[in-house]
Amino acid sequence: MIRSVVRGYGAALPKRVMSNRELESLVDTSDEWIVQRTGIRQRYIAGEGETTASLGAAAARAALDNAGLTPDDIDLVLVATSTPDNTFPATAVDIQNRLGMTHGYAFDMQAVCTGFVYAMATADAHLRAGLAKRALVIGAETFSRILDWEDRTTCVLFGDGAGALVLEASEGEGTNADRGILAAHLRSDGSHKEKLYVDGGPSSTGTVGHLRMEGREVFKHAVGMITDVIEAAFASTGTTADDLDWLVPHQANRRIIDGSAKKLAIPLEKVVVTVDQHGNTSAASIPLALSVALADGRIKKGDLVMLEAMGGGFTWGAMLVRW
Ligand code: UT7
Repeated sequence: MIRSVVRGYGAALPKRVMSNRELESLVDTSDEWIVQRTGIRQRYIAGEGETTASLGAAAARAALDNAGLTPDDIDLVLVATSTPDNTFPATAVDIQNRLGMTHGYAFDMQAVCTGFVYAMATADAHLRAGLAKRALVIGAETFSRILDWEDRTTCVLFGDGAGALVLEASEGEGTNADRGILAAHLRSDGSHKEKLYVDGGPSSTGTVGHLRMEGREVFKHAVGMITDVIEAAFASTGTTADDLDWLVPHQANRRIIDGSAKKLAIPLEKVVVTVDQHGNTSAASIPLALSVALADGRIKKGDLVMLEAMGGGFTWGAMLVRW
C-alpha cells in the first residue's frame, strides 16, 4: 500500500522576538502571569515585508533543502493557515509562485490551530489516491495581524512563524512498521464557534477582524478532545502510549500539554514543548516544534510520533506517523 513518508522539514521565524516583559508595557500583564498560566516566555512577531506567504516560502525552501529536493520534484503545495496574505488567491499559490513552480497544484486549508493535522491528512489522501507524488505541507501564520493588542486575554498568547514538511508517496507493507502516516483522526463541532473566532470576514463585516477567545471555555474542552482523538489513533493502529517515541502537540498552553500527556500516561520526557519559545502559532506550531526536535536529533528515522491539535471551530485531530 502507498504510505506518505516524511522526506524533509524546515522552519522560518520572523526576525523580531517579543518578550513577556515587552508586553508588560503594552497591556496590564506580567511575565509571571504569562509564564505561570501558559508557559510562554517569548514569541516572534512579523515585521515589515514578513507575511504568511514569505514565511511559508522560507520554510518550504528549507524543507526542500533538507530533503535534497527542488521545487521541480513537488506536485502539491498545501498551506494550513487562518491568516492568508489575501482573501484570495490562496497563500499556497503565492508560495508556489515564490518557489518558481508553474506545474502541479496548490491550495489552502483552514482549520485554525488544527490546520496542520488537517493538511497532513489531506495531503496523505491525495498521495494515496495518486493525485500527487510529493507534497509540501506548510503551516504558516501571522496571528499578530489579527490580534487586538489592547486585549490582554489574547494578545499575550500568540506568535508568528511557519514550518513545512515534504511528504513522498512510497510503497509500504501495510503494517505499523511502515514509515509514513499510519493513522489520522479528524473532528469538528461548529456549536463551539463563539468560544474562539475572529469578529470579521469578507462575507460578514467586510473587514479582517480581531481574534476573540473565551480562554477558560476553550481550556475546559481542550484536554478531553485531545485525549479522545489520540486514543482513537492508538485504537485504530493497535498501539499504546508505551509504543510512542514522541508526542508533538499543538503548542497553545503548557498546562494543556502536560494535562493531556498525564491523562494518556505519556511521560513528559517524550513530549516536545516549544510554546515557551514560539507562543501559540496556530497551524505553524506543530511543524515548528517538529523542526526543533528534528534539528536537535531527538526525533530520528523510524521513531513513532503522535501529532495532535485542538482549536477554533472547534476542530481537533491526531495523527500517528512513523518517521
Ligand atoms: O490554540 C487554540 C486553542 N486555545 C487555547 O488552547 C487557549 C486555551 N485557554 C488557555 O490557555 C487559558 O484559558 C488562558 C491562558 C487563556 C487563561 O488562563 P486561565 O487560567 O484560564 O485564566 P482565566 O481566563 O481564568 O483568568 C484568570 C485571571 C482573570 O482575572 P480574575 O477574573 O480572576 O480577576 C483574568 O482577568 O487572570 C486575568 N488575566 C490576566 N492577568 C494578567 C487574563 N489575562 C491576563 C493577562 N495578564 N494577560
